[in-house]
Amino acid sequence: MTPATTTISRHLSEEQVRLPDWTRAILELLNSFALVGKIISREVSRAGLSQGLDENGSQNSQGEQVTKLDVLAHNLICHVLSHSFQVCIMVSEESESPLEVPDNCSRGNYVVLFDPLDGSSNIEINASVGTIFSIYRRISIDGKGTIGDCLQAGIKQVCAGYILYGSSTMLVYTMGYGVHAFTLDPYIGEFLMSHENIKIPARGNYYSINEGSAKHWTAGIADYLDSLKSVRSTRPPTLRYIGALVADFHRTLLSGGIFLYPANTHYPEGRLRLLYEAAPLAFISEQAGGRATTGSERILELKPKTLHQRVPLIIGSWEDVLDLEKFILQARSKAA
Ligand code: AHG
Ligand code: MN
Ligand code: MN
Repeated sequence: MTPATTTISRHLSEEQVRLPDWTRAILELLNSFALVGKIISREVSRAGLSQGLDENGSQNSQGEQVTKLDVLAHNLICHVLSHSFQVCIMVSEESESPLEVPDNCSRGNYVVLFDPLDGSSNIEINASVGTIFSIYRRISIDGKGTIGDCLQAGIKQVCAGYILYGSSTMLVYTMGYGVHAFTLDPYIGEFLMSHENIKIPARGNYYSINEGSAKHWTAGIADYLDSLKSVRSTRPPTLRYIGALVADFHRTLLSGGIFLYPANTHYPEGRLRLLYEAAPLAFISEQAGGRATTGSERILELKPKTLHQRVPLIIGSWEDVLDLEKFILQARSKAA
């Protein structure tokens, strides 16, 4: 078997011939995240030795404890993107307001929103974590980016992806022409294509949800899960919940099934953030033939009102998500 040799740069150069709106900027930005992925992968793999587990004592803009690795990842991504000369403004989970590109770096035409370290509470127990990114073309003409550049509906994304720091480190992305995945070969320091044009199965046997909040779920969700367990009693479904969105989504993308983070009393809007968690993964899910909704609205059509806006997220196999939406609709019509 010939060894994998397609690097991200080589893949995108090949795509350049095929894709009408392929741009060098996207290559630069994907290569920026490949560089970030290699560095964070190294830091995650020795977090226990480098105090990366420690909380740095601060809270982020959303009142969540921040680990040193959250801060390291945030600072690293800001620095690398600023020096890509493709970005006019950035949004990070770890910063309340948008981040400007420093005056000593030239600005570009793209907006990048990111979750520097997703599932960071998994670091201290040596479980998977990730980085999520979402890229838009700017709306403003030139100069510093604006808040309007940041608050675009997910359907306007030009590129979205994530890096999963798991048993291997993988970079998964879409530019709207299919979903492709690259696995980091640490011995040569390259991401090499390992999965081309990923398609999510129409149905899957996994469901993924934090059952601890069952008492507070949106009407219809408990009924759906009960039906799943009874209808498939011959081969009952399997519950898997890693607690890091990127890892739970990646399993769903490859094996099929459904991931649910519905609204609950603690998170009445849902826990996950629209701009840098739900929207980029929704783009990937739909490009792979899957679905992504709030339970009633398509994630990619939501017009963001605020940077850190939270939404309920139901994402995964087309048929499984569609079934759940029907249960929510039935519950709502019963309640009406
Ligand atoms: P982050 O670490 O970026 O704040 O994201 C954590 C999120 C997401 O990764 C995961 O799906 C979810 O939190 C888990 O929430 P619960 O612990 O409430 O289940
Ligand atoms: Mn996250
Ligand atoms: Mn995070």
